[in-house]
Amino acid sequence: MRTIMPRKFRGRLCPVWYCVLFFIVWIFFSWVFFYTGEGATGDDNLESWFVDKEFPEGFHWGVATAAYQIEGAWNKDGKKESIWDEFAHRRPSPIKDGSTGDDACMSYDFYKSDVKILQQLGVRVYRFSISWSRVLPDGTTNSVNEQGVLYYRNLIEQLLSNGIEPMVTLYHWDLPLALQKKGGWLSKDSAKWFEDYSRFCFDTFGPKVKLWVTLNEPWVVSVIGFEKGDHAPGVKDPGVSPYIVAHHLLLAHAKAYRIYQQHYRKLQKGLVGIALNTDNFKAASGSKRDVVDRAFQFHLGWFAHPIFSKEGNYPGIMMDRIAMNSAMQGYNYSRLPSFNLDEIQFIKGSADFLGLNSYGTTLVSDDPDTVKRGPSYTNDSKVIKQANPYWETTPMGWQFYPDALKEILAWIRDEYNNPPVYVTETGFPDDKTMLEDRARINFLEESIRNVWEAIQYGSAVRGFIVWSLMDNFEWAMGYSVRFGLYEVDFNDPKRTRTPRMSAYFYQNVTQKNALSGV
Ligand code: GAL
Repeated sequence: MRTIMPRKFRGRLCPVWYCVLFFIVWIFFSWVFFYTGEGATGDDNLESWFVDKEFPEGFHWGVATAAYQIEGAWNKDGKKESIWDEFAHRRPSPIKDGSTGDDACMSYDFYKSDVKILQQLGVRVYRFSISWSRVLPDGTTNSVNEQGVLYYRNLIEQLLSNGIEPMVTLYHWDLPLALQKKGGWLSKDSAKWFEDYSRFCFDTFGPKVKLWVTLNEPWVVSVIGFEKGDHAPGVKDPGVSPYIVAHHLLLAHAKAYRIYQQHYRKLQKGLVGIALNTDNFKAASGSKRDVVDRAFQFHLGWFAHPIFSKEGNYPGIMMDRIAMNSAMQGYNYSRLPSFNLDEIQFIKGSADFLGLNSYGTTLVSDDPDTVKRGPSYTNDSKVIKQANPYWETTPMGWQFYPDALKEILAWIRDEYNNPPVYVTETGFPDDKTMLEDRARINFLEESIRNVWEAIQYGSAVRGFIVWSLMDNFEWAMGYSVRFGLYEVDFNDPKRTRTPRMSAYFYQNVTQKNALSGV
């Protein structure tokens, strides 16, 4: 082949080759500087992949459960029915495998085994819920079930004597059936019932409990319970009941917070928050950013805006869209109830922390024509949700996108002026029994890395709580999916709990207060 190098450069490097060489060296040094030096920033910090990610001192590592999902003993020692007892007993069964929470993990009998495995995990916090109809069988303080109260006293005592802090959820979806018969969350009185129940719990357990969650996922209560009807009480009244229920839930939450503030905080020195669920939303290709914001406002904002925003009340976009759709559908009022000025003030600021429950990411795009399809929360939001074929889909249908938590935490930080946050739930479902749960470990590793990075960006995250301590009754899915760090043998009368690989992984994190370099 003929050389094109001029004769005077032969045997030496010509300027073109100098340039190529210089370019290669420049690329190499920029790479080294950007990824490992001061040039590194958050997302692209390759170095951060290889070092231990240490968490702030006193960070709250925990695991979570809920009464109906683990306790069993549904009608024992004076407990009366809740709406979930009634719902799961319906025939034909609304539960995927026809099961119930009648026995579940039998934690009512085996709570000491629960505390033992909590100890093994080395967690600092255990988030569990009180079954309202176990302590107040007819829902009111007219009759107190002392045996039920004793169960929670014993559990709390057992936790504290093992150095584990209780985080108590007051309402994890199991309304006393007696109150459902009086109208349940659709009744205007429901906020008052919840206030009385909360006062009872603060009085009874407050001296030993410093972390309270008023309501778990009011979005799920409203939408899955009253729009879709897949959860108790199984009402299908799209676009109407969910908004009424949500309205009462917000008032109920604020009432509980305010009585704590007025009567208990000084003495008991605890914190009171609320656990709100949201997916991470990302724009489907071709969609604009505003659809992402609308999706967040209709989901998380519905409950977070009244409590955590500067101005309070529902997000403007919700009030506008629902009022407009209601008018076009022939209503002479908005299907979204309104708060008066006093209520707006009363709800605004009514939380010491935002509890975040999150499990997946959803692609969203604009729904072009929603009004014709009639009243519904989904139509009001004008959002179409879809799956991304490239992301892993779990047996719950949720999709795993590795930066999800970081993106949600950034949204919260920007939208609500960086409130204190506990990740009160995240976790990974399997539909098989297996101890080598590598996919769960991968999910947790990514989620913990996300929280660590969010903290580097300034998010005030105080704790990370995994759903769940052990396999349990997964609502409409029954026992067909498993979330536990511990596997539960539901055929064994002792409900033996066996650690999965993820339990050892998490134990390592809690012991080091760090995620080891990967
Ligand atoms: C949450 C709920 C938990 C648990 C979890 C996993 O929405 O609060 O009780 O079921 O989902 O599906």
